[in-house]
Amino acid sequence: MPNRKQYLIANWKMSKTTNQAILFMQQFSVNSLNNSEIQVILAPSYVSLSILRDIILTASAPITLAAQNCSSEESGAYTGEVSVTMLREIGCQYVIIGHSERRTLFGECEPILSKKVELAVKAGLIPILCIGESRELYETGATVEYLKQQLAPYSSTLPFLLAYEPIWSIGTGLIPTREDLSTALDAIDSKFPDTPILYGGSVNRKNISDLLWHQRMNGFLVGGASLEPDSFFALYSAMNQNNHHG
Ligand code: PGA
Repeated sequence: MPNRKQYLIANWKMSKTTNQAILFMQQFSVNSLNNSEIQVILAPSYVSLSILRDIILTASAPITLAAQNCSSEESGAYTGEVSVTMLREIGCQYVIIGHSERRTLFGECEPILSKKVELAVKAGLIPILCIGESRELYETGATVEYLKQQLAPYSSTLPFLLAYEPIWSIGTGLIPTREDLSTALDAIDSKFPDTPILYGGSVNRKNISDLLWHQRMNGFLVGGASLEPDSFFALYSAMNQNNHHG
């Protein structure tokens, strides 16, 4: 199995103001991010992107930026939207697309999401496409079928990352069993053998080692545990250790 690059992504959602984002950077041990195989990515709100870019540049920190969303349109009369070109220009390298909160709270689904992915790639951004089943689908054993359906519009040659985030796991403290995780990762891998696959949903410093073992696990998309510098750094350390000993 090739040793793929690992990713650790902080999804701050709508939790941090710009001042809080700056404070995080002051307290985060950027000098200890010494493993070039682990790409650390911060996804603050749109309004904090430019100041974080400046802080990262000034500190020469090995961190890159992701936006949490983007418009499905290129430019023009779309009040309140932010285009992929704007994100690229402001210094983002990645963009999260199709997070389950976008899907469930804002009604986004594959026709719109596949347009976003296409535009992002065209603009030189790397999409982080989120997929994952609801509790109901999980309980009826329909996970694999649903993941295949969500992934159907995408080509295996797309330069993107996939984040498997079971909806029932996000913010609940629940994580999949080893067996469930293998089943989902194997299903994704069968169509996307060369795409990095991340996991997201209640990852924290206590359970990360229960998730790291899978050879197809290329990192994590983290919500709650990414908000405090200490707990986020603990995830980095666990990945770092695994990377050295794995
Ligand atoms: P969580 O969120 O880590 O708080 O469960 C993950 C996510 O929504 O990406």
